[in-house]
Amino acid sequence: MNILIIGSGGRESAFAWKIAQSTLTDKLFIAPGNAGTSAYGENIALGVTDFEGIAAFVLNNDIHLVLVGPEEPLVKGIHDYFLGRDDIRHIPVIGPQQAGAQLEGSKDFSKEFMLRHNIPTAAYRSFNRDTLADGLAYLETQKLPIVLKADGLAAGKGVLICTSLEEAQAELKAMIADAKFGDASSVVVIEEFLTGIELSVFVLTDGHSYKVLPSAKDYKRVGEGDTGLNTGGMGSVSPVPFADEAFLKKVEDRVIIPTIEGLKKDGIPYKGFIFIGLMNTNGEPYVIEYNVRMGDPETESVLPRIESDLVDLLLGVAQENLGEKSFSISSKTAATVVLVAGGYPGHYENGFAITGLENVKESFLFHAGTKSVNGEVQTAGGRVLAVTAMEDTLFDALQQATADAGRIFFDRKYFRRDIGFDLI
Ligand code: AMP
Ligand code: GLY
Repeated sequence: MNILIIGSGGRESAFAWKIAQSTLTDKLFIAPGNAGTSAYGENIALGVTDFEGIAAFVLNNDIHLVLVGPEEPLVKGIHDYFLGRDDIRHIPVIGPQQAGAQLEGSKDFSKEFMLRHNIPTAAYRSFNRDTLADGLAYLETQKLPIVLKADGLAAGKGVLICTSLEEAQAELKAMIADAKFGDASSVVVIEEFLTGIELSVFVLTDGHSYKVLPSAKDYKRVGEGDTGLNTGGMGSVSPVPFADEAFLKKVEDRVIIPTIEGLKKDGIPYKGFIFIGLMNTNGEPYVIEYNVRMGDPETESVLPRIESDLVDLLLGVAQENLGEKSFSISSKTAATVVLVAGGYPGHYENGFAITGLENVKESFLFHAGTKSVNGEVQTAGGRVLAVTAMEDTLFDALQQATADAGRIFFDRKYFRRDIGFDLI
């Protein structure tokens, strides 16, 4: 079958790498892809929200399945668009329709969903322009630190952890009255601060049955020792040593099953990935957030550990027989180190030549912000490359990935040398 992947990051590179290995795959296309994805398929110059262009491409190239990488096209309704057109509605899209994508697209929606279905999460209340005064008063009754979240998509920047009442009140005003995050902060969720250690659990579902994919931990801060600004993710490891069987059983019983059942009860169809951001608080799981896609760079650690044929699993999602598919996970540990452009997540430059890619022999190399210019691979984004090593132990995987990250060169290259070492 012919498959189209939508997206251009390290996550989509890992998907392309995995899907290209399937005997079920004939032709693979990636829109728009990057300098690395062309090793696994053909890059197509289409934007991820160019639904008409994507539909025309799918029709002209006999595409049998579309896998959506990032959240934006899902929240904007790519799946609904396909279902709304008679000529393409039969082509399965992996990724939820808009109703399900609200789990990521609206924090207020996802908090209400969790409350309705008894899924453990931090206590919260939501406020808007009309209730701003109540919100300011509510803050006075809350313990510090306190968490403020823009309701809508804010490119990973919409969460503020405030340590004083003055700061929290000023930020609440800035978000609601001054549109600090544009429309995304016209509604703000104020929620209790949870302490503990974070991890992510990934689920693939056809709306009825599900497979629990390997769990992962990502490293969001730019600086070593988890310091500095938040990024999209500087590295990840899978599995997560502190997420033992007993903890994962609690996650399945208290979070995963109620989530799948809750979607069903609410009449929300869902075919795709669910990314559950969790806090482990003294061994008890609390949901911090849902995303309606895989994580990046978590995917680069998770997919190499899946031994099963991913295309067969995706077909199971499309045909609603995922429960019948066999599924196995490697016991090895995967560690991913992300190479970023100097300056990221602030201002950085593109267009530096990348060399040494051929030096990486033991790790998997997933391109993210790269592009091919007259045969030269150049930097074209904040997160440039992801290097994943798979070894018997976490220590060996970390050493290998970190060593291989050092074998690649471009001007102002930066990566964290401490990813995952806190877990050893
Ligand atoms: P989110 O965009 O919801 O993933 O939030 C970004 C980050 O903020 C999370 O990865 C957590 O580190 C932190 N965070 C979010 N909600 C809470 C909370 N209720 N308590 C503590 N930290 C939080
Ligand atoms: N690495 C976090 C995310 O993909 O949202």
